[in-house]
Amino acid sequence: MKRENFIIAIDGFSSCGKSTVAKAVAKELQFVFIDSGAMYRAVTLYFLRNQVDLGNTKDIENALAHIHIDFLPEADKVRVLLNDEDVSEEIRMMRISEKVSEVSALKAVRQALVKQQQDLGKRRNIVMDGRDIGTTVFPDADLKIFMTASTDVRAERRLAELLHKGESVTIEEVKQNLAHRDYIDSTREESPLRQAEDALVIDNTHLTPAEQLQIVLSEYAKRAGER
Ligand code: DC
Repeated sequence: MKRENFIIAIDGFSSCGKSTVAKAVAKELQFVFIDSGAMYRAVTLYFLRNQVDLGNTKDIENALAHIHIDFLPEADKVRVLLNDEDVSEEIRMMRISEKVSEVSALKAVRQALVKQQQDLGKRRNIVMDGRDIGTTVFPDADLKIFMTASTDVRAERRLAELLHKGESVTIEEVKQNLAHRDYIDSTREESPLRQAEDALVIDNTHLTPAEQLQIVLSEYAKRAGER
């Protein structure tokens, strides 16, 4: 039986502006926004705090059984709760970005989070952004977007975000981190980042957030009209 709810999947490399467009689309359409990267970041934070050995599957599975992630929507943002603690700011820090690709390449981690993501998409209209949403989490998504942008633009956007939050990083460090994550995310064995065949590609190097939003909304209107 065909699903009743509408699922929008937005995938792409790190710092391509996926969550900016995903949030705006969700707000406009009154869909639930789910940032799947935040879930991998929350797991990474838990693993770092509890010194989970990434080479020990038993340790990893045991840790995963103690992790509960929730999203708390507020007026203009969504708070991320790790076992009821608000970790929204901490999971964006560079020390998490440096470890998150290793953690999210682990099979046990992916299995647990993909399952939770699929459960979040049951019965509700959602916009989910990530790396494998249109390929693995929701291969039957109603609208799939694959976002790209030039490496320089991505690094500048990420640097501005980090500096705004008071972190002291250089553009070189940001570029290295992006390149490192792109490499691991697209070469890992478990659901690597790749463009779904039926995804609409948006290169936003020269697009404003408002222009991207319009592209996605008009594509949504087309698909929703066809259902
Ligand atoms: O979107 P982000 O940069 O916050 O994601 C952080 C990391 O999480 C990213 O480097 C790869 C991983 N990730 C993933 O493997 N699969 C997803 N669906 C989302 C994120």
